[in-house]
Amino acid sequence: MRSTVPSEHADGFAAAWPGIDAVPGWLTRDQARLLWDTVAAVSPGPARVLEVGSHRGRSTCVLAAARPDVAVTAVDPFVRTRRYAGPQVRELLEANLSVLGLADRVSVVATTSAQARHGWDAPLDVLHVDGKHDYWTVSDDLHWAEHVVPGGTVVVHDSFSSVGVTLALLRHVLPGDHLAYRGRTGSMARFVVTRPTRADRWAMLRELPWWLRNVVVKVLLRARLHGVAAWLGHEGPDDPY
Ligand SMILES: C[S@@+](CC[C@H](N)C(=O)[O-])C[C@H]1O[C@@H](n2cnc3c(N)ncnc32)[C@H](O)[C@@H]1O
Repeated sequence: MRSTVPSEHADGFAAAWPGIDAVPGWLTRDQARLLWDTVAAVSPGPARVLEVGSHRGRSTCVLAAARPDVAVTAVDPFVRTRRYAGPQVRELLEANLSVLGLADRVSVVATTSAQARHGWDAPLDVLHVDGKHDYWTVSDDLHWAEHVVPGGTVVVHDSFSSVGVTLALLRHVLPGDHLAYRGRTGSMARFVVTRPTRADRWAMLRELPWWLRNVVVKVLLRARLHGVAAWLGHEGPDDPY
């Protein structure tokens, strides 16, 4: 496994975070810290990182800022939906990378995860999955983990929060023999490419009550029962992540 934590990279997080935090998106400070530490922990590089779902680049900027010798591939088709603004988001992503001086560390691939993976044969050290959240797409996205080197890390956002993401993990990772669960920061779950033990599988199952709580919170938010959601410990109008 390629893993040492260079302290100068870890200490840089506090300095880099205010600039990155100006980029809108769905990523808490603690989750950013997890991404940062994961990339910093790859032994001397270049660290090879691929992200599925970059949007305006809040998480992409963290991955790229964590060390100078990193090559990030950012895959996003920049779809237009009720939630996402479409192709113009690519310009916002590239502008954010430029402002933070990170553009030369990131290759933006403006297509779907499935299309980008077609013909891909390069090894990866870190994979961050945060694209479309339905069961079928996440099931397909998880195939990227086959390109992550032994001991490398797979981080999946909205785990044990999104129904689609969680069902894909339960169907493909829980019974699998490729990814071992290493815990979560909010809904950001971390897996290492190694054969999971029985304890690793149990650790995933122990997250199910938290998942059920999050599903209840989402139903309450849809029903505009924000007060009841707050009683369950949820703050703000966004889904738990
Ligand atoms: C939740 S956002 C990503 C948030 C981002 N990681 C951040 O930190 O702000 C999900 C993104 O996935 C993208 N997306 C949708 N379908 C996709 C697909 N099939 N493959 C890759 N990305 C996809 C959307 O365009 C959107 O930008």
